[in-house]
Amino acid sequence: MPLVTSKQMFKNAYEGQYAVGAFNVNNMEIIQGIVEAAQEEKAPLILQVSAGARKYAKPIYLKKLVEAAVEDTNLPIVLHLDHGENFEICKACIDDGFTSVMIDGSKYPFEENVALTKKVVDYAHEKGVVVEAELGKLAGIEDNVNVSQRDATFTDPDEAVEFVERTGVDSLAIAIGTSHGAYKFKGEPRLDFERLEKISNLLPGFPIVLHGASTVLPEFVELCNKYGGDIPGAKGVPEEMLKKAATMGVCKINIDTDLRLAMTASVRKYLVENPSVFDPRKYLGSAREAIKQMVIHKIKNVLGCSQKA
Ligand code: G3H
Ligand code: 13P
Ligand code: ZN
Repeated sequence: MPLVTSKQMFKNAYEGQYAVGAFNVNNMEIIQGIVEAAQEEKAPLILQVSAGARKYAKPIYLKKLVEAAVEDTNLPIVLHLDHGENFEICKACIDDGFTSVMIDGSKYPFEENVALTKKVVDYAHEKGVVVEAELGKLAGIEDNVNVSQRDATFTDPDEAVEFVERTGVDSLAIAIGTSHGAYKFKGEPRLDFERLEKISNLLPGFPIVLHGASTVLPEFVELCNKYGGDIPGAKGVPEEMLKKAATMGVCKINIDTDLRLAMTASVRKYLVENPSVFDPRKYLGSAREAIKQMVIHKIKNVLGCSQKA
């Protein structure tokens, strides 16, 4: 099976009220860990590449590794550009064979975001590639943030409808309180489910995307800190909230920070426990296995996409 787009994947996820995991990839061990997990669970999969990942690994290496994963497993895999910041990077990825791109115009005023997104959609659709866009600004909700502050950053439901209609985009990342990285909430974790419900009711059948959706699994933060790390006060999105979102039209859940933490925890532990080892295959092999187990957990217990490939 060749690389696929997320069209049918999202249709199935929407109808089945589950989400597909979109995992950020930067090297071979990360790709293999994620792909082995998806294979074991027969789960559909989105592998996403950021501009930073392209710079780190060189575009051709990641593309070939993902192609190897498809050939090796025969799984339905989407190769997606994460947070494309302009038309040029989206075009480069489309021309390179990506099956999905994100144009992130969320930092621009509404009209500019519409125009930029529409330009990418027109180019992508001509080549059979799907497009994700973003409306609203990702930011954690602090306990004392009031309604008007929230309205200023979170996705406006009516604007979301207008945005989707005018751009023809295939999926939309919205802001309801998640944010990138390991420090998502100052107070108690809280997502604006009312807003999510409004948006998904106004856009029936349309796939919504959640960025910044790592749970920041405490076991990995604790392991990092036990073996010489210093990651105080990290807090992510509780798994129960992600499960709920997956039943409300959220079809794609983005995860990077949990991969980073699983990998780092494992490498730290391995090297401390095996101080005489200097074969990278040993500690990277252990990191790959940690990623695999973490992704299996997400697929089975959070995303609900086990056996859906
Ligand atoms: O949302 C951003 C992803 O975590 C990718 O991060 O730009 O450091 O590769 P990066
Ligand atoms: P996390 O930082 O919560 O893993 O989010 C990743 C993401 O949104 C990638 O686009
Ligand atoms: Zn993101």
